[in-house]
Amino acid sequence: MDADLESIVARARQQIASVAEEAQLADAKAAFLGKAGALTGLMKSLGSLVGEAKARRGQALNHAKQQVEALLNQRGADLRQAQLEQKLAAERIDVTLPGRGIGTGGLHPITLTIARIEEIFRSIGFDVADGPEIEQDFYNFTALNMPSDHPARSMHDTFYVAAPVVEGQRAEPLVLRTHTSPMQIRYARRNPPPIKVIAPGKTYRVDSDATHSPMFHQFEGMWIDEDVSFADLKSVYADFLHQFFERDDIEVRFRSSYFPFTEPSAEIDMRFSEGPLRGRWLEVSGSGQVHPNVVRNIGLDPERYIGFAFGSGVERLAMLRYGVDDLRLFFENDLRFLRQFA
Ligand code: FA5
Ligand code: MG
Repeated sequence: MDADLESIVARARQQIASVAEEAQLADAKAAFLGKAGALTGLMKSLGSLVGEAKARRGQALNHAKQQVEALLNQRGADLRQAQLEQKLAAERIDVTLPGRGIGTGGLHPITLTIARIEEIFRSIGFDVADGPEIEQDFYNFTALNMPSDHPARSMHDTFYVAAPVVEGQRAEPLVLRTHTSPMQIRYARRNPPPIKVIAPGKTYRVDSDATHSPMFHQFEGMWIDEDVSFADLKSVYADFLHQFFERDDIEVRFRSSYFPFTEPSAEIDMRFSEGPLRGRWLEVSGSGQVHPNVVRNIGLDPERYIGFAFGSGVERLAMLRYGVDDLRLFFENDLRFLRQFA
């Protein structure tokens, strides 16, 4: 081959080999075979030759062109192959890795506890009702025999919500309910006796320690009829505790107490006679005979109807059932704790 062609092919080989990306190959191709390419220029000069010399030079040029084309094709194929290998390596799936699995969720222990309480009370003929957490001052206090100057209100130092202004007048104050007892009034005003209902839900107080949380759950229970007695309340509650804890070694005691909306009033205490908590009385609920003023606020005649009510702490029952010693664990959302209940 002619020396000038050999040197062009050598240059092409070098330049093509240095191309790192397929897209840049077009530049290399243009440098040799394009309109202003090195070989194209020589092709044009063929016209000045004749006969044998022209034929020989033509062949040599063709040969050089084919060599450059072959180099371009080879480099293109190599680059595509390299790119494919890189992509495969990047997307490689390690089929030997253990599967990630599909995480199954679980219900929160307090949700489970409420469901359990509802199930037990339903099975003994109680309805289950739901009420507002942002409550009118009237239902939370006034209707429960706690007028605005009643000293019992100070027991419920709590969270108030700015009341809306209606026609230039500030409406009645709203409160995050401090107990589920407002449901006594709400439910009994809508449903005629005999009434047997529980109302579980969130309640709020300015409280925080190992057995008190600013948000906690209670369930209110109420039973109104013409001929119920304290003995019925005792047997229903004791029966509930036995079913809830699924054990027979439970003693229940009613300890005299005070609530403005019940008279007489009692705290319900219980104790286990076996196991680690054996022997210690624990308060689980307030209770009492619904005060005649409250029966009147419901719209019933206290001479005819008698009611019994209780309000129990859900977290306290859950703590006892699951052996949890700090109530705040229920609300820290530590999955290591919560997974034990799933
Ligand atoms: C009341 O709230 C009354 N409404 C109960 C009642 C209802 C009495 C019907 C009579 C008739 P007390 O403040 O004691 O009562 O609260 C009841 C239960 O809620 C307590 O026994 C306790 O188990 C739980 N409790 C009270 N405060 C907290 C708190 N900050 N964190 C967790 N549990 C609480
Ligand atoms: Mg109490």
